[in-house]
Amino acid sequence: MTRHFIDVDDLNREELGTVLDRAAEYKRQRREGIPHPDLERRTLGMVFEKPSSRTRISFETGMTQLGGHAIFLGPEDIGLGDREPLSDTARVLSGYVDAAMVRLFDHGDLETLAANATVPVVNGLTDDAHPCQTLADLLTIREAFGGFEGLSVTWVGDANNVARSFALGCALCGIDLTVATPEGYALDDAHIERAGELGPTPETTHDPAEAVAGADVVYTDVWISMGQEEERDERLAAFEDFQVNEGLLEHSPEARVMHCLPAHRGEEITDAVLESDRSMVFEQAENRMHAQKGLLSFLLE
Ligand code: CP
Ligand code: NVA
Repeated sequence: MTRHFIDVDDLNREELGTVLDRAAEYKRQRREGIPHPDLERRTLGMVFEKPSSRTRISFETGMTQLGGHAIFLGPEDIGLGDREPLSDTARVLSGYVDAAMVRLFDHGDLETLAANATVPVVNGLTDDAHPCQTLADLLTIREAFGGFEGLSVTWVGDANNVARSFALGCALCGIDLTVATPEGYALDDAHIERAGELGPTPETTHDPAEAVAGADVVYTDVWISMGQEEERDERLAAFEDFQVNEGLLEHSPEARVMHCLPAHRGEEITDAVLESDRSMVFEQAENRMHAQKGLLSFLLE
């Protein structure tokens, strides 16, 4: 059966551990200059409806390092859903590539592609989920703390695509997660419930200071995600008390800070915090590549 990676819970706890272990091993091999052509002559198709730097570059370089090849297909190339039905695109791609990485607006479109593909489809971000980011985040947390046991993480800001996948990943790893958002932007009930089935149920609150107290990690993301540009003024007003800055972090003096990037410095996070010793954002960015190599080798073996 074709394995897709539409969201984090497409892996069980043990499989997630395997992917992270492989990622760590690939990272070591890359650091030590040891070749690891585990996907020799394999091809990854990469379909993008939205812009990207980390996702595109990390998948493409990752495939090269694994001895394979990646093809970039931007919004103008395939004309997804315009030139032919999504189901036809999925079937045609399946005849050429060994796996497809897809970044779309509509999560339902990704599910349609996956339902019609006979090769693994990997979610490179939709409006609903960003599971590859979660893999990198979990790898980063594991490296920083040596494991997941007893950790507590606080998400501050918008409970968006990155937050939803992260909530599932934290649950699978047994991490206690608190999600602090303004009213109207909270983590949705379906993800709270699903996370609860996988592990600890996330706590939700509208008080960021109380939420970060005692946290090992504070994680934030942009207030205005791709596709939400028209909501800019309304969102800036709603989130103004949810900036991750030095004042907020006085409530959690030991906490490390995460952000999936790109960051809007001066909005959801300050320069000072992003550039501080607490920040793990560039480790996270690099770990995208190692984590996705672990995932691709797992899906394609
Ligand atoms: N974090 C992330 O997915 O970055 P890009 O949008 O640059 O790919
Ligand atoms: N939440 C952001 C993440 C970008 C990687 C967005 O969807 O634009």
